[in-house]
Amino acid sequence: MTVTSLDIVEAGAGFCDVFAAIHAESFEENERWSSSAFQSFFETPKTFALIALMEGEPVGFILARLIADEAEILTLAVRGTGRRRGVASTLVRTLQDHLKDINIIRLFLEVSILNGPAKALYRAAGFEKAGRRRRYYADGSDADVMVWEN
Ligand SMILES: CC(C)(COP(=O)(O)OP(=O)(O)OC[C@H]1O[C@@H](n2cnc3c(N)ncnc32)[C@H](O)[C@@H]1OP(=O)(O)O)[C@@H](O)C(=O)NCCC(=O)NCCS
Repeated sequence: MTVTSLDIVEAGAGFCDVFAAIHAESFEENERWSSSAFQSFFETPKTFALIALMEGEPVGFILARLIADEAEILTLAVRGTGRRRGVASTLVRTLQDHLKDINIIRLFLEVSILNGPAKALYRAAGFEKAGRRRRYYADGSDADVMVWEN
């Protein structure tokens, strides 16, 4: 049996090229973020990122912003080759554990109403729908606001 190792580690601005490459594999062209867009998030200490390494190779990441006692998931992506192996759910769970440790009580996100895989992932991670943002995305689609409370 092959055992695949998965490590989740905190990642800083040095990973922006990697984030942009994974993002480009994961989103339509008009929703992709460049390396410099990622870089700009790290100009504030409120940004927190985790990267998932499978057999030592970057396979996914999650980026969050922490504001007072709340946090928001800014983006989450897993490379096509690494999907359906629990990478995203491990990233979300590790973020939730970190937020509990630092007394952040609420975690928000926006997810396209058309993104069935992500909505299923967040529901399984304990998020509930808290609202709707009309025409939130560049393609005109709506977003669900989802929240998890610690
Ligand atoms: C959504 C995404 C992050 C999921 O990553 P992943 O590592 O494959 O997810 P996991 O393996 O941890 O899946 C956890 C659960 O989410 C749900 N899920 C994930 N992918 C799914 C799919 N394609 N269809 C249906 N449910 C899915 C399932 O409930 C799954 O549990 P299961 O495998 O036991 O059934 C990944 O598909 C991705 O990067 N998509 C493009 C970018 C994106 O949509 N990001 C989220 C923006 S808010």
